[in-house]
Amino acid sequence: MSKVTVVGSGFVGATVAQYVAEKDLADVVLIDILEGIPQGKALDLLEAAPVNMHGRSIVGTNSYADTKGSDIVVITAGIARKPGMSRDDLLKTNAGIVQSVAKETFKHSPDAIFIVVTNPLDVMAYLTWQTTKLPTNRVIGMAGVLDSARFAAFIGMELNVSVEDIRAMVLGGHGDLMVPLPRFSTVNGIPITELMSKERVEALCQRTRDGGAEIVGLLKSGSAYYAPGASVAQMVESILRNKNRLLPCAVQADGKYGIKDIYIGLPTVLGRQGVERVIELKLNSDEEAALKKSADAIKDHINLMNQLLVAV
Ligand code: APR
Repeated sequence: MSKVTVVGSGFVGATVAQYVAEKDLADVVLIDILEGIPQGKALDLLEAAPVNMHGRSIVGTNSYADTKGSDIVVITAGIARKPGMSRDDLLKTNAGIVQSVAKETFKHSPDAIFIVVTNPLDVMAYLTWQTTKLPTNRVIGMAGVLDSARFAAFIGMELNVSVEDIRAMVLGGHGDLMVPLPRFSTVNGIPITELMSKERVEALCQRTRDGGAEIVGLLKSGSAYYAPGASVAQMVESILRNKNRLLPCAVQADGKYGIKDIYIGLPTVLGRQGVERVIELKLNSDEEAALKKSADAIKDHINLMNQLLVAV
């Protein structure tokens, strides 16, 4: 029986728990610092099990002892930026939370694969890797699957074709500088550049870059959780079922694409070892320049985080 621990029982964490249990992927432990929230959400999900017909155990807790022996740890714990709070304050607070969560969960599940969801994503994935000192294949950031899913959804709406036939690829950091790749985004193998004008392709790329903000703008308080939750579940499935799916994930670049020492979204093959391999695509000069710009921004952000953590 596989076991997945989800740290942070907020909107994203609870949605991850729901999809993981309902897709019958693993037993789930939901943990949070708030008392009652993980217990309440776990019980509610368990009460949905007879309707959705799965026999998965879902436990809500405030004790890390219950997370012992997890195959996968998903980190969604953190706070959202509040009015009047600077980006640096958010970075510092979430870095402190992710660092303590990574330490605690690693203590109880030293063999786990870590999937990081807390924002700023690429920086938090890097921090989890640094904190746990795990091999790079076992610390992975979730962003590329989500950004690519958004891109695919917009392509489907634009062309009025089934999303079943759409494959989209978005690389780079999870932010304004992400790199949607129209040449590698297809409708049943046909690049979208063959199916719509350059202007429409660029409009869909821009909507993808703004995808998170578009949801925040509509929700007013809080950010997206259905598509992020589904994206994590797809990664969990590929790992636990050793499916070797090719999915864009935030990984330690390790010199690939000329990028070193940071976490950034690249095409990866996900299997039972976590990142089985990173695929190196031959990018054109524009794509390469966009990826480099994105990598430089992440590097700056990591440096800033290191300064803020030293200052604590
Ligand atoms: N340990 C455990 N849980 C914590 C900790 C901690 N140290 N600190 C905060 N949490 C919990 C909060 O109590 C809250 O229940 O993390 C949860 C975060 O949930 P939400 O505020 O609902 O945020 P959510 O929408 O789920 O987003 C979580 O994912 O997509 C990213 O940007 C998003 O960084 C954010 C994260």
